Parts: sequence; C-alpha cells; structure tokens
Amino acid sequence: MRKVLLLLACLLGMACVKAADQPFIRIGTKSTDLIYKVGDNGRLYQCYLGKKLTHPADWEHLPLMSEAYVTHGMEDYFEPALRVLHNDGNPSLLLKYVSHEAKEVSPGVSETVITLKDEQYPVLVKLHYVAYQEENLLKTFTEISHEEKKPVTLYRYASSMLHMDRGAYYLTEFSGDWASETHMQEQRLAFGKKVLDTKLGARANMFCSPFFLLSLDGKAQENAGEVLVGTLGWTGNFRFTFEVDNGGALRLLAGINPYASEYELPRGEVFRTPDFYFTYSTEGTGKASRDFHDWARKYQVKDGTESRMTLLNNWEATYFDFDEQKLVKLMDDAARLGVDMFLLDDGWFGNQYPRHSDTQGLGDWQETQAKLPHGIGFLTAEARKRGIKFGLWIEPEMVNPKSELYEKHKDWVIHLPNREEYYFRNQLVLDLSNPEVQDHVFGVVDGLMTRYPDIAFFKWDCNSPITNIYSAYLEDRQSHLYVDYVRGLYKVLERIRAKYPHLPMMLCSGGGGRSDYEALRYFTEFWLSDNTDPIERLFIQWGYSHVFPAKTLCAHVTSWNSKAGIKFRTDVAMMGKLGFDIDLSHLDEREVAFCQQAVQTYKALKPVILDGNLYRLVSPYSGQHTSSMYVSKDQARAVVFAFDVYPRYAEKTWPVRLQGLEANRMYRVKEINRMPGAKPAAGDEGTLYSGEYLMTVGLPLFTTRSLNSRVLEVVAK
Ligand code: DGJ
Repeated sequence: MRKVLLLLACLLGMACVKAADQPFIRIGTKSTDLIYKVGDNGRLYQCYLGKKLTHPADWEHLPLMSEAYVTHGMEDYFEPALRVLHNDGNPSLLLKYVSHEAKEVSPGVSETVITLKDEQYPVLVKLHYVAYQEENLLKTFTEISHEEKKPVTLYRYASSMLHMDRGAYYLTEFSGDWASETHMQEQRLAFGKKVLDTKLGARANMFCSPFFLLSLDGKAQENAGEVLVGTLGWTGNFRFTFEVDNGGALRLLAGINPYASEYELPRGEVFRTPDFYFTYSTEGTGKASRDFHDWARKYQVKDGTESRMTLLNNWEATYFDFDEQKLVKLMDDAARLGVDMFLLDDGWFGNQYPRHSDTQGLGDWQETQAKLPHGIGFLTAEARKRGIKFGLWIEPEMVNPKSELYEKHKDWVIHLPNREEYYFRNQLVLDLSNPEVQDHVFGVVDGLMTRYPDIAFFKWDCNSPITNIYSAYLEDRQSHLYVDYVRGLYKVLERIRAKYPHLPMMLCSGGGGRSDYEALRYFTEFWLSDNTDPIERLFIQWGYSHVFPAKTLCAHVTSWNSKAGIKFRTDVAMMGKLGFDIDLSHLDEREVAFCQQAVQTYKALKPVILDGNLYRLVSPYSGQHTSSMYVSKDQARAVVFAFDVYPRYAEKTWPVRLQGLEANRMYRVKEINRMPGAKPAAGDEGTLYSGEYLMTVGLPLFTTRSLNSRVLEVVAK
C-alpha cells in the first residue's frame, strides 16, 4: 500500500520532497517508541512503532508509513479507521494535522493528544495516547466531534489504528465457547483481513476474548522475539481487524464492533471511543505479560494493589437446592478451611416466582421466604459469628420473563415488540440505555448494601447475550443500542464504585463471558470459566495469564475431574485467586487437612503469586507437562508450580530452567503443599542452589506419573 501511495504522490510531484520542517511526534515508554510525522501535505503519518530509538537525529531517515488514522472516501483502498456520512450526503473525510500537545499526567505517565481536522467539513478528531513509562504500556483512544448543523453518522470509529511493515505476521487469538474459553490458536496472516469480533452485546466474550498476540517476523515465543499484545477496554461488541495489504504491510484496527451500530452524532457532542491498550515487547510474550500485569495492578484494576480474599462458594456444592441449614453448614466448612469468606451464589431470591432453577425469578431481588426465612441478615450474622465475611451473587442486568419485574416493567426489557421472544438461558437483558433501568440496576446493589451493610463482596453475573434486539427507550435510534447499553452499564458501575469504593466484586458472565480491562476498573477479579476441570484450567488460566495478573483470575477447587486428586486440583487453583466450590463432606480427613494447610500456604504466598512476576516456563500446549513460577519483586522468594498430566510410559523428562531469579544469589528450594505425610521429592528438602544453577541447569520438575503436581518454594538465603 505504501508503495502505491508513494508512487501516486511522486506522480503528483509531492512526496519526493522531504517533509523536514514538519514536526515529529514521539510517544514513548521506557522501551517502545511510536513515532508520527506530519507530511508536506499536512496529513499525519505513522513512521515508526517498535523498540525505543535512542538517537532522535535518526528519525528523519524514517520512511512515512501509512496515514495514522485513515478515513473513508479518499485515496486509501483498505480498511479505514473512520467512516462518516455528513448530513449533506457527502461520505468523505480528509484529516489534516492541526496541533499536538503532550503533558505529564502523573509521575511516569504522560499523555499526547494530536488534533486533526477536515478543512471542508467542521469535523474534529483527537487522537489520544497515554504512555506508562515503566510498565511499557500504551493506552490509545479517539475523540470525534463536529460542528455541522445536523447530526453526522459514524459508520466506523476505531479506537486505534497502528501500522506495521514486516516480513511476516503471526496472530494468536484466544477463542472458544462456554466452558472452553481462551483456546490459544496461532496463524500466519497473509493478504486480506482477519477479524476477531463479537456481536453478543452482553456476555460479549463467550466465543472470543478481547485480546491477542501479534508476533512479528516469526511465531510468538515466550522469551524472545517482537510481539505486540493488545486488548480493548469495552464490555460489549469489540472488533480487531488485521489487514495485510498488497505491499505486505499490516494495519491493525481496534475498537467497538461497528456492526449494526452506526451512530448519529449530534453537533457539539464528543464520541469518545473505548481504550485500546497495548505493549510492544522485544523479549517475547513473557515480558509483555509481566508489563501488562504491572500496569493493571498499578493503574487499572479496582484495588489493584490490594490483596484478595480466599473464599468458599456454594454453587457447585448445592446449585439451587439449599436452605439456611445447608448454608450455615457450608459456612462452618468455610471457617474450617480457613478461607476469608463464604459466597452465596444463585438461587436465594424470588417469592412469587421462587428461583428454584434458572427458569424464573431473575429480577426479583428479595430473599425467598421459604428458603431463607430469616433473610440475608441472618446469613451475614452467621458468617460474622464464624469470623468470615459474606458475599452474594447477583445478576442485575437480566430478567426472567417469569418474574414480577418483567410483569411490571416490560418496557425495560430488550425485546422486539412484534415478535415472539427468543430466550438464552430462559432470560432477557434489561435495557441499560434507559436511565430508569440504570437506576434500577444500581438500586439492586445499593438496596442490598443499605439493608445488609455486612455484605462484603458481590459476584455479578451476566448469563445472556443481547437477543431480540430492540429498545423501547431508544425509539428511532435503535442502532445505538449496543453502544449505549455498555455506556449505561458503566454509568451504573461508576455509581457503585463512587458509593462503595472498596467493595470487592467478581465479574462473571456464564463463565468467562466478560474479560476486559474497562470492566476491571469496577471489579477486583473475574470468573474465567465454568469449566473447573483442573486439566482444562491449566490451559484456560495459561491463556488469560497473557494479559491479566493472577489476582484477577478466580480459580476454584471443585469436584470436576476428581480423578485428579485434591492436591492437583488445589495446586492448579493456587496459581490464581484461590477459592473452593466444594462440599467438604465429600473429602476424607486427610484431604480436608491438606486443603486447610493449602489455604494457609496460599495466604503466606499471596504477595508472591498475586503481586510478583509471572514466568511461564513450560506451556501446557507443548505436551503432557506444564510449569509456571511467580517471583517476588525483590527476587528473594519464588514459588514454582509443575504439573504432569498424562505422560507416556517411561517418557523422557527434562530439567526445567527457572527464570527471574538473581544469578549470584543462593536460594533454598523446598517442596511445599504436600499431602499430609507425603515426603518431598529427592533434592527438594531445602537444598541450596545458586540462582545461576536454577536458571541454567534447572530442576527435574517433571515425572512420568499421571495427574501429578508439585509446588516448590524458592527462598533466597
Ligand atoms: C454462571 C456462573 O458462571 C456460575 O458460576 C454460577 O454463578 C451460575 N451462573 C449461577 O446461575
């Protein structure tokens, strides 16, 4: 594409003239530079994205790549970032550079805003870039506004457009389905477009997660190679387009999925796109993930630098079938386990339509008298007596047609007025574009907190995509619904965060149907998948770990795949935010004793697992063994997890090299988290090694035993 543009420009006698007196705009972190330059034609071009360039004098040698934010209707032949229709019917836009401004937002964080405008039509575009120096992360978004008399219709409105011109591009997507989230699949991109998107509205990430790895010149590697890791902060329809053009250049477009979402923008209103976050690593995906984790904890996730609570959830132990007695017994189990909290899941509400299954009651947020005659207050008091906190499940954006809410407020429901309703999990989505509905949803949390201030945690579920799409509230602006739904959701979450700034909340969406960084500004953690089979979890957690830190990844010990013993299941869950969803009466005394000790061990290791550096050592995708380790920021302590899944008979195993330690420090290595009475493996009883040895020679972490796991603690002498 670039060649075509240059040729065209040369023919017109333009681009062969050097644009020497036009400004360069550098958006840089500690290790990455994104450089723009204004061409002689007054338009903005990207000229570099990659490893930091330390000699600014070299910049003038950089070729102008593609236009920074390509608009529809001019000379470009590929996917545009912005497509508008003016009210006079003209479909074109040509953006010229007006100015740019850079300022420090806070120590280590700077923001650059580049303003572009069309000279024919009063349309203004502001490209924002926030650079997090130490974390090597860039956040970009775009603001679009105009001063035309009538609304301008936006058909495409990317958050970000980036250009690359390399020998090869390999894209890793994280896709799947309910109970099989984040399957990593890598493919080489050739001419044309690869699109990762979702049209599900709510529960938007059920089939595809909003993040990717884009490896340059070769396949993605853990510790080497150039890779761009990106994700969109939008709890709704997203779209990433990767388009390789005729000249082999790649453009990456990230933003809201514009599918069925043309947006009429009135004069003076600013359309602010969601944030696209990315990091560019020259040391492979491992470094990119660690940068993402550091940034997320420090700047993005709700209470990102705080610790997290261990818990016992009743969902898999009881499903909908519980009463006060059963719950109190489970609270006893929680106290016996030593976890911080008991979490009551779905099934506690509804009277005219008691929630005995997923067929009814959703929307009626009063305790079911028959099940809980003494209400939530009784349960919070029982929890307090046992020295644990109490958490509660809600799904406030949804409604069962069999509910009092539906009967009373049909107009609050997203559904088509003149067609039979289609149900996903027997439910429908409330219309959050409507401020009255926003008040209602906020009121669910606020009402519960007002009545029961002892509630210490919410699990916020969202089990249905948007179906039967029609909003009674939006009237003739139906194509705004997907966007305004998400904006309405954020208004509610903003109010909750303002009133309850440190209330921990788990984001859940029928498993991992929501997993984005804008939602995580309001949630402390999220549920990855309803699949808690530990073998599947090794893959699922591995996938999410590419972008999210361990403290956001809820991982529960359940009875799925009990062929894998309690130790294996617990060891897997300890790599994330540990919880249990199990009936202790199904475990024998030794297993319970193991779990109790594991909870204590986990609590002691929290600073390392939740706040340390993650090193993915051996991928579960590479065979029957996998290993990951976490290292404290001061490199004084580490914990290594190793798993053998189904090794072959007499298979050759190999030592695993640890990472992230100090070569010249001595470390004591000890196997921990053993079943009561089990001896540590030879060499793991507190043996002293240098960091150099551990990272160069490595440890024989793997065995040929099926469903075997080991946890090693590594402590500097
Ligand atoms: C789906 C969630 O993923 C589960 O953990 C559980 O909360 C159910 N919903 C309850 O209906």
